[in-house]
Amino acid sequence: MDHFLYRDGQLHAEDVPIARIAAEVGTPFYCYSTATLTRHFKLFDAALAGMDHLVCFAMKSLSNVAVLKLLGDLGAGMDVVSGGEYARARAAGIPGDRIVFSGVGKTREEMRHALEHGIRQFNVESEPEIDLLNRVATELGTVAPIAIRVNPDVDAATHEKIATGRKQDKFGIPIDRAREVYAHAASCEGLRVVGIDVHIGSQLTALAPFEAAYGKIAELTRTLRDDGHEISRLDLGGGLGIPYSRGNDIPPQPAEYGELIRRTVGDLGCEIEIEPGRLISGNAGILVASVLYLKKGYDRDFVILDAAMNDLIRPAMYGAHHDLVPIEEPAPGTEAEPHDIVGPVCESGDTFAKARPVPPLRPDDLVAFRSAGAYAAVMSSEYNSRPLVPEVLVSGDQFAVIRRRPTFDEMIARDIVPEWL
Ligand code: LLP
Repeated sequence: MDHFLYRDGQLHAEDVPIARIAAEVGTPFYCYSTATLTRHFKLFDAALAGMDHLVCFAMKSLSNVAVLKLLGDLGAGMDVVSGGEYARARAAGIPGDRIVFSGVGKTREEMRHALEHGIRQFNVESEPEIDLLNRVATELGTVAPIAIRVNPDVDAATHEKIATGRKQDKFGIPIDRAREVYAHAASCEGLRVVGIDVHIGSQLTALAPFEAAYGKIAELTRTLRDDGHEISRLDLGGGLGIPYSRGNDIPPQPAEYGELIRRTVGDLGCEIEIEPGRLISGNAGILVASVLYLKKGYDRDFVILDAAMNDLIRPAMYGAHHDLVPIEEPAPGTEAEPHDIVGPVCESGDTFAKARPVPPLRPDDLVAFRSAGAYAAVMSSEYNSRPLVPEVLVSGDQFAVIRRRPTFDEMIARDIVPEWL
């Protein structure tokens, strides 16, 4: 459920008409709903109630500092994957002991910075990384808390580009080498092993792969404890999928996922961490655009929008589906005609949807792509020198621009022309 609904024939974000924001901010822009973000976070928090737990928002899905502060104030931790994300989390007021640092390629500087400024744990993914972190921590005269990410060799049955838990994927250490690697980590003076980490992929629409992975993690916990390791924390990753299309099958709910966690690892007495991103932010955002032109094509007609692939790359990159809705509610019985929905960028890949049935549209009409809160603004670029689009946060009847549209001058000012030119 989200809070982008038609009221009096107009799409609203909570109590604010989208058209009002568009008039003030211009299009395209991203719009997020605090009520939806809050609701989704609380669903996860409630799903783990009764267990010692921390919900670490995977901020790679949506990293605006205002959104991080909103979630942090609700008690969220953060799953960060770069020095930049760490800095954003801290700027949002998230304490270091609520930040986990994931990712296969942490740099020495990122490790040092996090150790100096506070970190809950590093999720380490390889032996060379274990050795480097050990050196960095020792140099600083400190001890780095770590969980080792294991690769359980489970197929998450999701898009090829976002599956991470099969043995051929670059993530984690193979589960059958875990004992050896844990023994090595335990011998490092600069490290303190606190737990196990696993993340098998994103946009999972069934629970079975989680069940398979977490079952293996439970078994590994017992084995590692028998080996003398103190496994007090399990980071179970993110990945629960969302409905991208109205009327499609609804993926499992956080409550069912919580039950699964209880069933598979609940009896181990471990503190549970999860790292959901998409389910919290995905349906809490929309991308609002204007229709520029309607163009007759050879065998189909085009709707040309002022938003493009640089603003929302998921359709071009993954063939992802995002529902497109007009801001003005179509009258009941309005016929929808198939159109290709495209942007102004100079390549044919700048296509949001092919043969998508849409109600009659005219130039200047406002439309919105749904489910554009996760992996949307964060993946945008300035391709074709199109400035990053603004982000707006709505709460009840108020809204605020939480990232403004840069001017052309600001965009250009980052370039440096050397004196010798
Ligand atoms: N934890 C780790 C270690 C991850 O790599 C990810 C996502 C998450 C948590 C959060 O997963 P979520 O709950 O959001 O599914 N750009 C792609 C998605 C990439 C996901 C990367 N890792 C997309 O647009 O679909």
